[in-house]
Amino acid sequence: MPQENKNPDLSRRNFLKAMGVLAVGVGVAGILRGVVIDIIPPNQNVESGYPTLQLALPNGNPVHTSDLIVNNPQIVIFNYPLQNEPNFLLRLGDSNNNDVAVQPTEVTIPATGAKFTSPGGAGPYKSVVASSAICQHLGCVPPEIRFHPPNDTSYPGKIHCDCHGSTYDPYQGFSVVTGPTQSPLPNVKLVYDATNDTYSASLMIGPVIYGRTSDLSGGNPISGNSTEVTTIS
Ligand code: FES
Repeated sequence: MPQENKNPDLSRRNFLKAMGVLAVGVGVAGILRGVVIDIIPPNQNVESGYPTLQLALPNGNPVHTSDLIVNNPQIVIFNYPLQNEPNFLLRLGDSNNNDVAVQPTEVTIPATGAKFTSPGGAGPYKSVVASSAICQHLGCVPPEIRFHPPNDTSYPGKIHCDCHGSTYDPYQGFSVVTGPTQSPLPNVKLVYDATNDTYSASLMIGPVIYGRTSDLSGGNPISGNSTEVTTIS
C-alpha cells in the first residue's frame, strides 16, 4: 500500500525547490543560447561550420546566370571559404558552347583511395560548378592553373596546371586525370536560388584545400554575406 505523506510542509518545500532548479536551468540555457548566437557569425552554417556567401560582382550586385560565359577562356575566381583562397567559377559547355548539365559523381582520391560524391552543377542548366583553384600537388594558383575550354587544342575541357602538369576534369567532380597530383580539386557546393537567379557558395566537399590542415583554419574569414567574383585574365 502506498505510504501517505505525513509531512505536507516537506512536500511543498521539495516542490518549490524543484521549481527553483528548473527556473535556474531555463535561465542558464537562455544565457548560453545568447552566447552561442554571439559567437557564430550570421552567415555561418551552424551544422557544417562553413559560411554561406552569395557570389557577387565587383559592383556588389549578385552574379546572375547571364553574367557567366559558357566555356569562358578567361579565369573567373572567388575566395572561399576564407580570404585568399581562390576558387574557379565555371559555366561548363560542350564543343558548341551549349550548357552541359553536370551530374553528381563519385570521385576517388588517389592518394588515399577514399571517395566522395561531387555536388554536380548548379543553375538553370546545372552547368555551373566551382572548385578550389589551388593545385593539390604543390599549391600553384591561377594563371599557372586554369581551365581549358572543350575547343582548346592542348587540354580540351580540362583544368591544367603548368607548374608540373597535373590535370583535372571539372565535368567529373574535378577528378584527377593526370598527376603528379594525387588529389582532386576540392569541390565548392553552389546553391542556386531560382527565384532570384543567384548563386551562393555553401560548403567544400572532397579533400582538404592544399596547404591547410582544415578548410576553416589557418586564415581569416571573409566578412559580410558575399564573396567577390573577379576575372583575372
Ligand atoms: S603545383 Fe600544380 S602540378 Fe605541381
